[in-house]
Amino acid sequence: MTSIDSLLHENRTFPPSPEFAAQAIAQPEIYEAAAADRLGFWAEQARALHWHTPFTQTLDWSDAPFAKWFADGRLNVAYNCLDRHVEAGHGDRVAIHWEGEPGDQRTITYAELTAEVKRAANAIAALGVGQGDRVAIYLPMIPEAVVAMLAVARLGAIHSVVFGGFSSESLRARIDDAEAKLVITADGGWRKGRVVTLKDTVDAAIEADITDGKPSTIEHVLVVKRAENDIAWIEGRDLWWHDALAAAPAEHEAEAFEAENPLFILYTSGTTGRPKGILHTSGGFLTQTAYTHQNVFDLHPETDVFWCTADVGWVTGHSYMVYGPLANGATQVMYEGTPDTPHPGRWWELIEKYKVTILYTAPTAIRSFMKAGREVPDRFDLSSIRLLGSVGEPINPEAWIWYRDVIGGGKVPVVDTWWQTETGAIMVSPLPGITAAKPGSAQVPLPGISIDVLDDDGKPVGPGKGGLLVITEPWPSMLRGIWGDPERYVDTYWSKFGDKYFAGDGAHYDEDGDLWLLGRVDDVMNVSGHRLSTAEIESALVSHPIVAESAVVGAADETTGQAVVAFVILRVEHAEDHTTEEAAVLLRGHVSEAIGAIARPRNIFIVTELPKTRSGKIMRRLLRDVAEGRAVGDTTTLADTTVMEAIADRLSGGVRSED
Ligand code: WTA
Repeated sequence: MTSIDSLLHENRTFPPSPEFAAQAIAQPEIYEAAAADRLGFWAEQARALHWHTPFTQTLDWSDAPFAKWFADGRLNVAYNCLDRHVEAGHGDRVAIHWEGEPGDQRTITYAELTAEVKRAANAIAALGVGQGDRVAIYLPMIPEAVVAMLAVARLGAIHSVVFGGFSSESLRARIDDAEAKLVITADGGWRKGRVVTLKDTVDAAIEADITDGKPSTIEHVLVVKRAENDIAWIEGRDLWWHDALAAAPAEHEAEAFEAENPLFILYTSGTTGRPKGILHTSGGFLTQTAYTHQNVFDLHPETDVFWCTADVGWVTGHSYMVYGPLANGATQVMYEGTPDTPHPGRWWELIEKYKVTILYTAPTAIRSFMKAGREVPDRFDLSSIRLLGSVGEPINPEAWIWYRDVIGGGKVPVVDTWWQTETGAIMVSPLPGITAAKPGSAQVPLPGISIDVLDDDGKPVGPGKGGLLVITEPWPSMLRGIWGDPERYVDTYWSKFGDKYFAGDGAHYDEDGDLWLLGRVDDVMNVSGHRLSTAEIESALVSHPIVAESAVVGAADETTGQAVVAFVILRVEHAEDHTTEEAAVLLRGHVSEAIGAIARPRNIFIVTELPKTRSGKIMRRLLRDVAEGRAVGDTTTLADTTVMEAIADRLSGGVRSED
């Protein structure tokens, strides 16, 4: 560790090696080209795609903040990710090296993936899905997840992928909001050596009684056979994926859709209890995911093996496992399970086996590997790695250096990439052959992207001072809105600074002009790189009959970045029924059922009062102090200044479990 300490204290940067810089796709001129003619630069990136009808307009911002990019052009997203590579003679290139958690494997070429997507598109169309219809996808990390997304896209329909860890209630809320008519799922998937019974969750989600008798909009359930677990079956409604595909014609011609045809909805947590359906469209999204994937990861499709470890249920899986890499004709690794199943070296084993050259993962994973010790990765040959990427949360410099040293052999570029579900693609990141990397900083906006850091009044803060990150110009892969709620879109992102996009993140520039991200400034937590809203968890807690009131905060956590910590007041009539420990266990399970295991609080503290201002607003700052074990800050604005002492007194009642 001494070497890491001294590196950090030297505040060192890591320029790319001359060999890397020489072969890099992005060369320094790219910054000048983008700065000289921003829209021309984006148009050029877009022209790298295949357009059935070329566009003549680049950006239409006349109805700001509702953007249109490449609006008069027409394309098919799936054709761009599949057919065109086959037509260019790359049909035999491997698209996906897939590995199931139990160790089963599949190798899928571009020709095979194209054929599978064509059949799937026909099968899905036969169920009445056409342009603009919504299809929910609730699948494990199996190739069919990619096939399903591309098949839906091929039809001009809209997918809404729901992370397989979400509960039936969360799934139902997303199905209802999007009014999906089809859900594609699997009997089960493998996770930590066990079968996760996805079809059961779908069945429960569709049942009418989950929403007081209101029937769901789902007409059919298409089921991939994966784990061979027993499932319930409703004749007529449920269909096996393999039967449907076998019955479907093999040929499917990709129809062209307008560039602004919606591609997908992806739900993410906001500051209220209701998740937001972030809407992305076709041409701009594909342009920026392909461009960033190529330049940030320096992708050489003939030789690289790319592995993005994100689940397809999150935006990183959409942009950097499906659309960006496949648009670029990349060869990828896809893995179903958890990093430590059946042994703690599983990821490193896969890297050695498939000779992965580019790895893209999250700081939480890196920190948990650090904790387990370098002996685990040291047992494997990781010499194929030539680039490392990080996403999802700020990466602390220690983890950055460990990542580069232990996984990257002390010599490869590390790119820390900042972006959001809403931005669709990477916005701030070093370029690996150009930028001298600085551990802990996401550094610079990509060519074509304009970022600033403002104070509350909208004035640029300048170096050294903290402020709010904004995006000052529209970008191709920007969200086009919130599904069904244009007002919330304007309110959330555009009301604070008018013509600038408010990201909800704190940031500052250092003296070199490099950006440092400081975490969320709103009531959104970031747990293991996943966004969770305090309000959503609070409402899950108060939906339990024993809870009177609750307050949730994100507290710093060594491994997961932040952890969910809940303060709960029990109803008087139930206060005696359970020990505080029992109540905490009960409520953790309840949150898990209501939202999903990722939302389960790390700690639940049973308290008798919550700190509130005179206007009744909960002072989360004080609860965060308690949750992080700090001396409690200024309490003078509390309605009752003794509350915090009472809470501190009861803290021994907190329960922490590690599952
Ligand atoms: C955070 C994930 C610091 C940030 C792609 C953002 C980061 C939220 C970074 C978006 C990073 C993501 N450094 N913070 N490199 N990347 N974040 O929508 O708070 O799941 O607003 O998208 O994650 O999370 P989301």
